[in-house]
Amino acid sequence: MKKRKVAMQLSWLILCWWTCGLALLILSAREHQVEGARSHGTFYELVVVKEYDNKRGFEAKVVVSSESGNHSLGQDISPLSFIVRIEKSTQLQVYISDAAKPRWEVPQSMLPRPTIDSKLPSPTETPLLAVTYTTKPFGFAVTRISTGDVLFNSTPPASGDLEPLFNPLVFKDQYIELSTQLPKSTTLFGLGESTRPDGLKLKKGKNYTLWTTDIAALFADIDLYGAWPFYIEVRDAGVSHGVLLLNSNGMEVSYGEEFLTYRVIGGVLDFYFFPGPSPLDVVDQYTQLVGRPAAQPYWAFGFHQCRWGYKNVTIVKTVVENFKKAGIPLDTMWNDIDYSDRYLDFTHDEERFPLKEWRAFVDELHANDQHYVILVDPGIGSAYNDYKTYSRGLEQDIFLKTENGEPYLGQVWPGPVVYPDFLNPNATLWWTNEVQLFHDQIPFDGMWIDMNEVSNFCTGTYCTWNGTILGGVTECYLQCTDTHTKYDDPPFKINHFGTLESLGHLTASMTAKHFDGTLEYDAHSLYGLAESIATKKALTTVRKKRPFLLSRSTFVASGAHTAHWTGDNKATYNDIAYSIVSVMNSGMAGIPMVGADICGFYDMASDDLCSRWIQTGAFHPFSRAHSSRDNAPKEFYLFKKVTASAKKALGLKYQLLPYYYTLNWEAHTKGYPMVRPLFMAFPTDPKTLDVSYQFLVGNHILVSPVFTENATSVEAYIPKGTWYNMFDFSQIVSKGEKFTLQAPWDVINVHVHEGAIIPMQESALTSAAVRKTPFTLLIPLPNSDSVSSSASGYLFLDDGEEIDMTLSAGQSTLVTFEALVDRRKNGTITSHVEHGEYAMKEGWIVDRVVILGLDSALSFFHVNQKANARVKVLQNDQKLELSGLRIPLGEDFQIDWTYE
Ligand code: NOJ
Repeated sequence: MKKRKVAMQLSWLILCWWTCGLALLILSAREHQVEGARSHGTFYELVVVKEYDNKRGFEAKVVVSSESGNHSLGQDISPLSFIVRIEKSTQLQVYISDAAKPRWEVPQSMLPRPTIDSKLPSPTETPLLAVTYTTKPFGFAVTRISTGDVLFNSTPPASGDLEPLFNPLVFKDQYIELSTQLPKSTTLFGLGESTRPDGLKLKKGKNYTLWTTDIAALFADIDLYGAWPFYIEVRDAGVSHGVLLLNSNGMEVSYGEEFLTYRVIGGVLDFYFFPGPSPLDVVDQYTQLVGRPAAQPYWAFGFHQCRWGYKNVTIVKTVVENFKKAGIPLDTMWNDIDYSDRYLDFTHDEERFPLKEWRAFVDELHANDQHYVILVDPGIGSAYNDYKTYSRGLEQDIFLKTENGEPYLGQVWPGPVVYPDFLNPNATLWWTNEVQLFHDQIPFDGMWIDMNEVSNFCTGTYCTWNGTILGGVTECYLQCTDTHTKYDDPPFKINHFGTLESLGHLTASMTAKHFDGTLEYDAHSLYGLAESIATKKALTTVRKKRPFLLSRSTFVASGAHTAHWTGDNKATYNDIAYSIVSVMNSGMAGIPMVGADICGFYDMASDDLCSRWIQTGAFHPFSRAHSSRDNAPKEFYLFKKVTASAKKALGLKYQLLPYYYTLNWEAHTKGYPMVRPLFMAFPTDPKTLDVSYQFLVGNHILVSPVFTENATSVEAYIPKGTWYNMFDFSQIVSKGEKFTLQAPWDVINVHVHEGAIIPMQESALTSAAVRKTPFTLLIPLPNSDSVSSSASGYLFLDDGEEIDMTLSAGQSTLVTFEALVDRRKNGTITSHVEHGEYAMKEGWIVDRVVILGLDSALSFFHVNQKANARVKVLQNDQKLELSGLRIPLGEDFQIDWTYE
């Protein structure tokens, strides 16, 4: 966040005028650049191929065969090695790099994977993908073996006139270009992170810039905080595949009519192809490589309240009390930088947050089964002699350095700062110690790592400081020199920050060095990932419980360590819509624990807007309200409609916590996004590809939010089948079509799909209180003429904060449910404990079963459930409700009923 941005939002019209003018300028500069890249006209030829003995791949030499002599973007590198490795039946690697010397690659320490020269495993399953190549000009194609469908093809089209922007491979030190042909009618998703006003699908004619940037999420189509060079492509009948370019350098990906072009300014071409064929299979295969999403603690699925501007402990206490008074669930209270002394990490302001009182507040939160998360920034204040965190860091020599070996000086909230080099293993040790020392004083439960793109209020290769300390100032007041190195101003300028600014613009200089000589130029977009890895380790060591951290900057692989939020949005209806898309995009990138600042970070939200926002945000996996100090408070209880909407939406979310937590397990073991686009659950329905503003929780719960002012209904696409409104059980039977759903201000449309068994508990003000309530199984059946129908589901439970989320006998339980119903005669529900005794230990019971879609005209005859005489039977509106069951969840059970 920059003052500049605040100024921008205040002068919105001026900004629009400014950006439009700027956009034109960028466009012409861009055309010039791309023209420069095109006209180089070199092409490569493949010369020697060596097949691997086990037929799992090959390596080849690729040399420049015709040079154009145009070296405006640098000299061509030749020879190149071209390596194809079938690492698994579902993972194919294509690697192109300088054959003579190693180039920068994403470090193994951050994303462990088989090295390029490691022995390939012997084949166990038949590979699903194959690679072919052309020799002159060199190109390669990836084919789905079962159908012969070409998924990726870098060979230029023969006609040449098909795609004028389609070049053969270009490989220079600071400019690599590669295109792939695409079928005209195909659908792509991914290539984040940016705010997407066009919706979920990627749009032809757009350039996607990947470079981690501190710019507010309210700005559309600009590289934001994360870099996710991964896309999912969906072709006919929902058959999908995924493509990851594992490269952390700055890049732009242009989506043309029938091609996609990567322009990358360093590193190697390290592609991984995942064959799917379903979209969920793709994410499963991709997260096997980048890392399965981190297990999140149970409480993290509850509601979180935050605000930049909770200036003292009394305010924070009052907010917690007011939530309770209003009867709105609250699991976690947050503090932004406000608690700190002079904005220094791991300090507190004794006047505003007196340690004794602050600690007592946190202890009380804990006593009430609530949690507490604090913010830390990576910029370590370097202006104060008494600041031990800084001096210990200096002693341990863990800061990012200039070329001259001095700690690189930037400016953030505390004034002059230095940045920990989280690539350095010693930095993790230092960070862990700092976390430990602070945690000893104030026992926080999670850490919020902000500003880690990494953000700097200055731009410069070297900056010095004249001794004046100005904390909280967002205008640069350091004295900085910009030497315009080839790293800060590379020959090809990515459209970074929405401008063609130097790469070091408002971040650390590209010439800054990590402990092993790595240039910031190469590792820039990994800063947030590196800090997340260090913070996860620190929290685990210190708290000895499952860590919760929230990172603004992310890379592919970040999901394995951290939760994420979509950044600084604005209190507008459009921003609600953007948040729906951004949350799904994050999930598809393997970062499923995600949410947006509910009610908007900037600007004041009206009662109506905020009410709509919580109706949406409650159902995101990470539900947090957060806002800027520049606007008045907007806690839900301050507004009538918002209070009612929050109680209603969070009430349902809390009932669904066992379902969300089971999705947490599914994400952790299979990579599936907890909140997902409709096409992921209904891949064979092409109409789902166009749905951007509705989402599914798991495969079965559909949320159709309102994001239009004054709307009292919403146009929703309802995939085929029977769906039940989760508030009143009213039914929609869809052929796969649009419906106008009524949505007056207090209505949020949440529907559950036939065939599921949804484990639920009772709502309460904290997730811990929910866990003490009995379970209900909700069983929606299809409304069909067929006499018999079935449903199934499952449930994973553990204590919610054991470090590892595993199937372990004493510590977890996995239960599967099945229902088989003959509408005329009888029904059976069976529950089978697949694993573990945890549910038994906890003494959880299933007390209620609600079956939807039955014929209530039939009179009920008999329930056979271990002869429990107290069972109450309620039959109405096609609903059968059995309550008072009191069956242990930890034991196998069966419930039968028959009709007369
Ligand atoms: C920027 C973050 O995006 C925002 O959420 C936070 O409130 C401010 N930094 C202040 O720490």
